[in-house]
Amino acid sequence: MKGFEHPIIKTSIPGKLSRGWVKRMQDVEAPNITYTDKDFPVFIKSAFLNNVWDVDGNMFLDLTSFFGVASIGHRHPKVQKIVKELDIYHGMGDVHPTPYKVMLLEKLNALLGGGFMGIFAQSGSEAVETCIKTQMLYTHKPKIVVFEDAYHGLGFGAMNLTQRKYFKEGLEPYTGQWVYTLPFLENNEEQMLNNLIRLLEDKKDIGMVFLEPIQGRGGIRIFSNRFLKNLRTLTKDFSVLLGFDEIFTGSYRTGYISYAKAMGIDFDLITLGKGLSSQFPLSVCMGKRKIMEIAWPKSRGEAKHTYTFLGHPLFTRVGLAVLDIIEQEKLHEKVRRKGKEYIDMLKEVLKNKKGIKDIRGAGFMIGIEFEYNIFELVKKLLKKGYITLPAGNKGHVLEIIPTFYITDELFTRFVEVLDGVIE
Ligand SMILES: Cc1ncc(COP(=O)(O)O)c(C=O)c1O
Repeated sequence: MKGFEHPIIKTSIPGKLSRGWVKRMQDVEAPNITYTDKDFPVFIKSAFLNNVWDVDGNMFLDLTSFFGVASIGHRHPKVQKIVKELDIYHGMGDVHPTPYKVMLLEKLNALLGGGFMGIFAQSGSEAVETCIKTQMLYTHKPKIVVFEDAYHGLGFGAMNLTQRKYFKEGLEPYTGQWVYTLPFLENNEEQMLNNLIRLLEDKKDIGMVFLEPIQGRGGIRIFSNRFLKNLRTLTKDFSVLLGFDEIFTGSYRTGYISYAKAMGIDFDLITLGKGLSSQFPLSVCMGKRKIMEIAWPKSRGEAKHTYTFLGHPLFTRVGLAVLDIIEQEKLHEKVRRKGKEYIDMLKEVLKNKKGIKDIRGAGFMIGIEFEYNIFELVKKLLKKGYITLPAGNKGHVLEIIPTFYITDELFTRFVEVLDGVIE
């Protein structure tokens, strides 16, 4: 059935037409943006649910949801219908808004358990920057504590929180000086907490601790439930805000609207994005009502914070539909159940493979950690028709982020192919 098919590769990868587009791109796009070599990339022509077609007519299986965004698959028929039938596409979000903005905020507030207000944005980076502004306006403190290998986007504000040197090379002298970075000690969370206590005792300029409950681009690294609970207690004790960046983990990617909420953590600020509108640029910073009201007092006529596209009617309308589809089809339950099964399957099939350090994840956010950089593996999989991504600070984690419509048959075949390719 269309959208649920195994890959069919008809040409060399990349094919002739993709290679032609690479040449044209190299002439007009700044060289750092899209990586190219003789094996990479393919140019995409179309996509439907789990499948993606390139300009040469090859059909791939997408195991990335294209950066964790297309959770309900590419060009879902109900989304296509909305795009076709909606009365308005672009709006005036902070002047003459459309009801969709309000309806989606109401829905998100309810899903988060109530007591939240929000501000929409387009990208993850912008939602993170809205959180940064919110905490500064609320606490009047300049510093934010983040963890090693955190990824919070590359906007000029968000970039300060992102912890990978490469992204800041050449820009360090100009970036903000408002971050304390703590090491991520995978096997010693006790020490991580002690480090944080020492920092909070020592520095009086900290307004917030901000983290992804599972580091995505950092390599699917999971903070334990116990650690998160202790973090909440500590931040409360020191009167510091706790913010979660759930651009990746949220919007049901891990089976829940918020992974932190599912772990029973009561946070102050949260970002959602990526799968929120499943394919359209929509993100949000939600905060506790009291915090939002103090940080953002009533508008005196001009918004102190806005975007031209804030609360975009099409994107928010699709956002509502995405949540409906997930609820109606109980896709979140499938994500939780199948996520566990797929991790078990990967562990079983790959158990004797050398060079694999760990297989872990939550819901449909799965990582296979290798002892080496796996870009060659990603390229080999692409040649077999599987789109995957590397993650981790050494590019050593294979990220598997399928759409919520992946089937057992498609996944099982992928695991067989992966098994063969690693061999
Ligand atoms: C946790 C997290 N925060 C923020 C971002 C940045 O989002 P964007 O690329 O939409 O700005 C990402 C992107 O991968 C992310 O994973």
